[in-house]
Amino acid sequence: MVKSIKELPPLDNWADLPRFAKGYEEQGLRTDFSVSPFITFLNSCQFAFLWLDSRLIQSELIITPTSKENSMTLELPKLPFSADAFGSAMSSETFEYHHGKHHQAYVDNGNKLVAGSEFEGKSMEDIITSSFGKNPGVFNNVAQVYNHNFFWNSLAPKGGGNIPASMETKIKEAFGSVDEFKEAFTQGGITQFGSGWVWLVLKDGKLEIMKTPNAENPLVHGATPLVTCDVWEHAYYVDYRNARPAFLSAFLSSMINWEFAEANLAAAS
Ligand SMILES: [Fe+2]
Repeated sequence: MVKSIKELPPLDNWADLPRFAKGYEEQGLRTDFSVSPFITFLNSCQFAFLWLDSRLIQSELIITPTSKENSMTLELPKLPFSADAFGSAMSSETFEYHHGKHHQAYVDNGNKLVAGSEFEGKSMEDIITSSFGKNPGVFNNVAQVYNHNFFWNSLAPKGGGNIPASMETKIKEAFGSVDEFKEAFTQGGITQFGSGWVWLVLKDGKLEIMKTPNAENPLVHGATPLVTCDVWEHAYYVDYRNARPAFLSAFLSSMINWEFAEANLAAAS
C-alpha cells in the first residue's frame, strides 16, 4: 500500500531524485523496477503518484503558510441533545439557525483570523484573555465560539428541576433564596442592553450574576462561568419574538442544566 507522502522529502527538482527515492524506500516501497514488467508498472505508478502528491503538498504549503496540523482549529460541536428536544420552548428552527448558521460562522471566521497570527496554537481560553481589548476580530469570534459551546451545555431537556444540594446552598448564601436568584438572573438578562449574555459565575468564592455585552464573558473579568443564557435576539426571536423576559422565564423553568452548573462549581471549588 502507498503510505502518506507527508513523511517523504519533497522532490524540488529531478536532481533530487535519489533523495526522494531514498524516502520512498524507507517507506518499504521498491525502487528496483527490474523484477518483472508487471511489478515495474505497479511501482512506476506508485512512484508517479507519490511525486505528484509531493508537488500538491508543496503547492498547498505555498498557498497556505500554516498547515492544518500546526494550527489551533475551532470546531462546531454537535448539540448535546436532539434539536427538537425542547419543543416550542426552543424550536428546531432556532437551533437550525443559532447552531447551524450563527455558531458555525463564528467557528469559520475564528479559524480564518487565528491562522498564522500570534494566537495560533493557543487554547481557546488563552486566546480569549490575550486578545481582549487588543484584537476585536479574533476576540469576538473565538469568544463567541466558547460562549455558544457553554450555552449548549447550559441547556438540558426537562431541565430547570431540582437544584443539586451543594449548588442550592451556595445560591441561598449569595442571593437569599432560589426565587431571589431567579429574579436577579432574569433582571440581568433583561437589562443587558442590546446583544449579550447573562451568567451565573463564581468569583472570589461567591456566586454572582454577571451580564456581559456582545462576546464578552466571565473569563475576561476574573470569574468562573457556571451556567449562561444567550440573550442575543438570534437566541429567542423565532420562538418568542421580542419577548426576552418570556425567554428567560422559560430558560429558568424548563431548560437550565443544573447538573452542568454543579459540575463547574465542583471543578472550581
Ligand atoms: Fe447566540
